[in-house]
Amino acid sequence: MIAEPRSGKFITFEGGEGTGKTTQIARLADYLRSEGHDVVTTREPGGAPGADSIRSLLVSGATDKWDPLSECLLLFAARREHLNKTIWPSLAQGAWVLCDRFADSTLAYQGYGHNVPIPFIEQLYSSIVGDFAPDLTLILDIDVAVGLGRANARNTDNDSREDRFERMDISFHERLRQGFLEIARNAPERCAVVDADHDPDIVSDLIRAMVNTRLAAT
Ligand code: TYD
Repeated sequence: MIAEPRSGKFITFEGGEGTGKTTQIARLADYLRSEGHDVVTTREPGGAPGADSIRSLLVSGATDKWDPLSECLLLFAARREHLNKTIWPSLAQGAWVLCDRFADSTLAYQGYGHNVPIPFIEQLYSSIVGDFAPDLTLILDIDVAVGLGRANARNTDNDSREDRFERMDISFHERLRQGFLEIARNAPERCAVVDADHDPDIVSDLIRAMVNTRLAAT
């Protein structure tokens, strides 16, 4: 039940659609490797075999396919597999784990977005994840219309079918943007908000500076 002792660092990337998380994770991974760290990049939902199976149930199909409470249970089942099989073992070996989304996405999407009571999600978190938390959470923030425009362009390019959440209405995306900003205000020692509406080089410089200040990566 309890997370294994860790010598690595756990950094999560959060934000709405089209904030550029994937690009920024790859850039930070390159930088940390150049500083001599072992780095594992992973994502949620997913990051372990069972969790990837659950992901395929969640990210495609009709927007109302799941009741929001069922969706929370599936996400936490996937998260538990991910922690046990990937995140905790990697941290125990001293790796820096960079994760594309984690539990703040459940608070934002299912809680602020779909009105699942926040205490229910917090209770699931403490039962399933325990006291473990990210060392640093980078919340990439962008205007909703700009972010959705970027995400739609990406989906057209890739013919992606993993767009169930992107297809939710604009007020849903506004609620989750405000949710992420509130999460950051409530946990300032863990979270940093990054203005993602810049050239990717500027955003990666901002992120590198935050990681160095908060976690002394060098
Ligand atoms: P993904 O294609 O990885 O989206 P993105 O590139 O925006 O990160 O799909 C993951 C989707 O799952 C994303 O739309 C957000 C959603 N999600 C939740 O609703 N709750 C969660 O707890 C997590 C981890 C993801």
